[in-house]
Amino acid sequence: MSESFRDALNLAELEPLARAALEPMAYDYYASGADDERTLRDNEAAFARLRLRYRVLRRVGERSLHTELLGQRLEWPVLVAPMAFQRLAHPEGELATARATGEAGTVMVLSTLSTASVEEVVAASSGPVWFQLYVYEDRAATEALVRRAEAAGCQGLVLTVDAPVLGRRERDVRNRFHLPQGLKAENLHAAGYEQLGADASDSGLAAYFASLLDPDLGWEDLAWLRELTSLPVLVKGIVRGDDAALAVEHGAAGVVVSNHGGRQLDTAPATIDCVAEVAAAVSGRAAVLLDGGIRRGTDVVKALALGADAVLLGRPVLWGLAAGGQAGVTHALELLRRELEQACALCGARSLAELTPELVTRRD
Ligand code: FNR
Ligand code: LAC
Repeated sequence: MSESFRDALNLAELEPLARAALEPMAYDYYASGADDERTLRDNEAAFARLRLRYRVLRRVGERSLHTELLGQRLEWPVLVAPMAFQRLAHPEGELATARATGEAGTVMVLSTLSTASVEEVVAASSGPVWFQLYVYEDRAATEALVRRAEAAGCQGLVLTVDAPVLGRRERDVRNRFHLPQGLKAENLHAAGYEQLGADASDSGLAAYFASLLDPDLGWEDLAWLRELTSLPVLVKGIVRGDDAALAVEHGAAGVVVSNHGGRQLDTAPATIDCVAEVAAAVSGRAAVLLDGGIRRGTDVVKALALGADAVLLGRPVLWGLAAGGQAGVTHALELLRRELEQACALCGARSLAELTPELVTRRD
């Protein structure tokens, strides 16, 4: 008898259910990190090294998780991270994620490399959708993508900067990762870049990146993007204060402290170990978000206490999607939201503003 996603008591318990539902090539693509996967593991382990010095007798009977991010009101401070190719998980793919995320009162960030079009995804969601941008060497095609995202009604642009080349995910190399028949990058038809086929000796995605995406991006390209669009631009993939300051100086409305879930440079630091430095460098001039290894409500508390305004949830959303479609994503988000509520109460915080750095200490 197969267990239902509804029985999963926490995000970790969703993963084996998803694994059972997925083709091995898809599971490996979703789960893997680069090289030895040290950063992949460390993103979670670094949260586990931190302890919460909770406060007591703080009248936590009435609590709120509301927040405002780039002028948009969110029910709670957890967004859904951009993740490519969600129809590998479920026939409804990104549409199911969009519906569940909108209902959960938060933002879905849609990957450039989605298997449903940006127009369909925005139409499916009752909440805000932001568009994650990869910059193609073909700048006309890139500009067209930005225009399309704007016209579709996206409310933010997230420029991913940690992937000038694709990290080497050895499981994908071994599997010769590719999209099965019928699945395509649905935002790329006009440019003719929608196919992601097999490569004889590599991950098909690595070959796609190498042939189409621009490894030669510099800070002036951020300025270019800022001029191209009136949408707020966030820069995703930062782990240092100096880079965060440069992002702000070049017009970023926000930065995402991220190492791409350990999928790019292996042995990059865990994101929770970088967020205080980034928040100090940004110093209130832009929003600070973090992703990588968020699996518990207490992880969200730690990230916000150390300076993040919000976090993004990655793989557990895919596990929910694979195990239960839209309802599975709803379940994943609801598990995390309840944990966050409880963690705030037990920390003595009535609102997110009361999550401050001295709550957090290192175990060693
Ligand atoms: C990603 N991520 C990602 N990031 C991005 O900017 N554009 C993309 O298309 C993708 N695609 C993608 C696919 C898959 C399968 C995964 C797991 C991740 C990275 C993602 O946005 C995020 O940074 C991490 O996944 C966050 O870490 P956790 O929560 O998965 O540990
Ligand atoms: C990934 C890319 C698509 O991490 O961002 O697989």
